[in-house]
Amino acid sequence: MKNERILILDFGSQNNQSVAKKVRECAVYCEVHPFTMSIEKIKEFDPKGIILIGGNDNVYLSDASLCDKELFKLGYPILGIGYGMHVICQLNDGTVKLNNKENGLVIVNFNKDCSLFNGLSDNELCYMNHEDYVIEVPNGYDVICETENGNIGGISKGNIYGLQFYPENNNPQVIKNFVFEVCKCAGDWKMEDFVNDTIKEIKDKVKDGKVLCALSGGVDSSVSAVLLSKAIGKQLTCVFVDHGLMRKNEPEEVESIFGKNGNYDLNFIKVDAKQRFYDKLAGVTDPERKRKIIGEEFIRVFEEEAKKIGKVDYLVQGTIYPDIIESGIGKAKVIKSHHNVGGLPSVVDFKEIIEPLKLLFKDEVRKVGLELGLPEYLVYRQPFPGPGLGVRIIGDITAEKVKIVQDADFIYREEIAKAKLDKNYSQYFAALTNLRSVGMKNGVRTYDYAIALRAVLTTDFMTAECGIIPSDVLSKIVKRIVSEVEGVNRVLFDCTPKPPSTIEFE
Ligand code: XMP
Repeated sequence: MKNERILILDFGSQNNQSVAKKVRECAVYCEVHPFTMSIEKIKEFDPKGIILIGGNDNVYLSDASLCDKELFKLGYPILGIGYGMHVICQLNDGTVKLNNKENGLVIVNFNKDCSLFNGLSDNELCYMNHEDYVIEVPNGYDVICETENGNIGGISKGNIYGLQFYPENNNPQVIKNFVFEVCKCAGDWKMEDFVNDTIKEIKDKVKDGKVLCALSGGVDSSVSAVLLSKAIGKQLTCVFVDHGLMRKNEPEEVESIFGKNGNYDLNFIKVDAKQRFYDKLAGVTDPERKRKIIGEEFIRVFEEEAKKIGKVDYLVQGTIYPDIIESGIGKAKVIKSHHNVGGLPSVVDFKEIIEPLKLLFKDEVRKVGLELGLPEYLVYRQPFPGPGLGVRIIGDITAEKVKIVQDADFIYREEIAKAKLDKNYSQYFAALTNLRSVGMKNGVRTYDYAIALRAVLTTDFMTAECGIIPSDVLSKIVKRIVSEVEGVNRVLFDCTPKPPSTIEFE
């Protein structure tokens, strides 16, 4: 039986998947399509309701993105958000004008007879982000909410609604109400359905072709690999490159899950490239050069393995939706050149890329991982940068320094887990500073390294606050590091927010 589905027509928004996610959180399947989708295709899609969402266009300009007017005569429940409301207005002879001064969080007073606002307070702060607004509602439409300054905040006629504000940001109940009260969905979609549908799609696409996956042991690439392996088994080869910059025991853990004694039926190749990376990195201190060397060497190793396998039809990437949003922005200055094992090679000869998770957010990827039976410790793993400990060792990298930071980081993680604090921080790790200072051990003078500990709280990793470690836990961690890790006589705690610092040290 086909699931109920909501259709999102996208008029050029950065935010369409955030709305899709809110719909999926209601257990209702949802797809985003461009606003140019034909009426025939829309009927074929058979949505329970349609959401129109758009960017910063102005509907009254001659080149504005508009859909077929016919859409409003088909009887589907419709919710126009932001530009989507302007589209409703423009195509039904209302008036939209430039110069809305209300942007950011604005108080909106709701008409509580409107089912879209069930369960909300009489007024709430709502997020606005468009310079146009509706000054004259189309014939037969009512105003359903107003801003505190008396501007139109929303309109409706029958089961068609428009909102000037973006409910997915601050008022997600509105989306829930649209899905359940207006579209009368029952909520019949589960992650299991996503898994089954994706496995079927992969099978149909790949047929008997060969697929290659760069597996880092991170959540995204692990979940992608397992999805592929469920679909095509031994046609998949996963290459895990041990660049010698992983956390303590990590290569062994990845091999135990995905290798020949693990639970998955895939060709797993572990390449021990440690020495190769250390040789290339010897004496290099510049952070950007280090990142470039690690990224490039990674690709070289991967290409060599790919050549051994022979003609590959598809390459798997663990891209998730926030990666697409970030790369879509495009104008931001490069702070660090991020290296993802996903960002792979131009030289390997393959037909197509498969990105099974590209429409999901991290928490959804984790749900898929659990659904696929991946162990919790892997699914809830904190983010780990592609260049690994290479960006957590300030200055040049040596095997000895890698061991110091691995051992310190292991103790830090172990004690945080013992104190049951591991879910309290978005990311926490040890880094090796390039600072050596005087201390003493067993009455003898030492001149050893300082380890820096960091813990951050963040939702988007673009900004972050410092996470506080309770003093008793911190003191235990410090004592263990200075007594158990050879070459360390001082532990510092980095409590800087991002910005001005970044989360990683390099
Ligand atoms: P920064 O240091 O830029 O880190 O504040 C933000 C988040 O990104 C992670 N990070 C990376 N992830 N490749 C990755 O896949 C990279 O090159 C990379 N550099 C930083 C970092 O761990 C944090 O979660």
